[in-house]
Amino acid sequence: MSKTIKVKNPATGELIQEVTRHTVEEINRALENGQKGFEKWAKVNAHERSRLLKAWSQKIQENKEEIAKVMTMENGKPLQESIGEVNYATSYIDWYAEEAVRIYGRTIPASSETKRITVSRQPIGQVAAITPWNFPAAMMTRKAAPALAAGCSFIVKAAEETPLTTMTLVELAYEAGIPKDAIQYVNGRGSVVGQLFTDSPFVRKITFTGSTPIGKALIKGSADTVKHVTMELGGHAPLIIAEDADLDYAVGQTIISKYRNAGQTCVCVNRILVHENVVDAFAEKFTAAVNKLKVGNGLEAGTDVGPIINEKGYDKIVAQVNDAIEKGAEVLTGNKYEADKEQGYFFVYPTVLKNVDASMDIMQEETFGPIAPITSFKTLEEAVEIANNTPYGLAAYFFTNDYRTGTYLHDHLDFGIIGWNDGAPSAAHAPFGGMKESGLGREGGTEGIEPYLETKYLSVGNLLN
Ligand code: SIN
Repeated sequence: MSKTIKVKNPATGELIQEVTRHTVEEINRALENGQKGFEKWAKVNAHERSRLLKAWSQKIQENKEEIAKVMTMENGKPLQESIGEVNYATSYIDWYAEEAVRIYGRTIPASSETKRITVSRQPIGQVAAITPWNFPAAMMTRKAAPALAAGCSFIVKAAEETPLTTMTLVELAYEAGIPKDAIQYVNGRGSVVGQLFTDSPFVRKITFTGSTPIGKALIKGSADTVKHVTMELGGHAPLIIAEDADLDYAVGQTIISKYRNAGQTCVCVNRILVHENVVDAFAEKFTAAVNKLKVGNGLEAGTDVGPIINEKGYDKIVAQVNDAIEKGAEVLTGNKYEADKEQGYFFVYPTVLKNVDASMDIMQEETFGPIAPITSFKTLEEAVEIANNTPYGLAAYFFTNDYRTGTYLHDHLDFGIIGWNDGAPSAAHAPFGGMKESGLGREGGTEGIEPYLETKYLSVGNLLN
């Protein structure tokens, strides 16, 4: 295996930088180092941990433009989105800097006057994270910030496509004063590093954002040493437009949900379900809005939709569109591509498909691309049945101004994140995570620090009364 990883710009195929691929020995040394780091970091006062996290956030903000540019170059997303992601990334650090000083224990009334029962919380140990290429900054800080706030040490392996943003963030943590053995990064192939992480006796928790098959492998790998896991896995989000919905508003929010990061997010809408009485009107308005989106290099001003990350992602999207067309879907716009496999760039134009049905792959699998399939429903029960008919359960959206319709949909949709008249529900202060095969655990909000803490129960007996 090559000693370096070539990081390429997905908009041009050009080489940006080569980074060191760490050897097995180097990774094992880093894990050992991280264990020693944990023993020291866990003893750092919570107020000091909080201060250091705030300093890290500030350093990132001071370097925001530069980080965003690197992110756009390695990931492809439009520069404005990268700037938004840096802000999103620091919002996790800011939130957990505040949570660091709010890790409380409790006292439980004992059944005897000579006993006292207390419960305290302590950091779980070294945390190993594997982060995805679609949000190279925010998915890292969403894991690192609560881990460090809790007193855990943290080691991260970023996606091979996008290690540069992560490396910059870790260097800035050092500049902010966070010790070098409290936060570290390693670079390498996912399957290799993943196994080293799961096998290591120095790791107490694995946290992963990525595909469901890899998440399952990491869960299995963690079983032998009974590691804790947090898994943010795939999604297949339905978006339901009720008969009474404000269609213009719903179109705007659907565009945000579908085309952010060229549709390469776990929470982006993957299936649009519209009431039969408004499906034609919605499809017309939505297609008109989609036609205004500009495709291009994320560094160029005005770009709304950047490239697809790699050939594998591109091939999957093209195959899903072709499958849908062969089975009778109507193309309202798009189905247009600009790709060069030799050069290594892959653009997919925003595409809207109508008359899709359950026989088509696009209605069964995550797409991870700028394709919007529209189908119709007659009743809310039918909409819920279509929406829930998937092993995934990450995000779902619906648009209605009728409180009874909204409450019914909220109660019946089996998804961890629900956007009611909201196409962008993600926030550092709210719990992000999925049901069913979309994952285990939550990140963000007060829930997001819990998985980094152990509970210790103390029962003291024979006290003086
Ligand atoms: C993801 O797609 O994995 C995360 C998206 C988000 O945080 O909104």
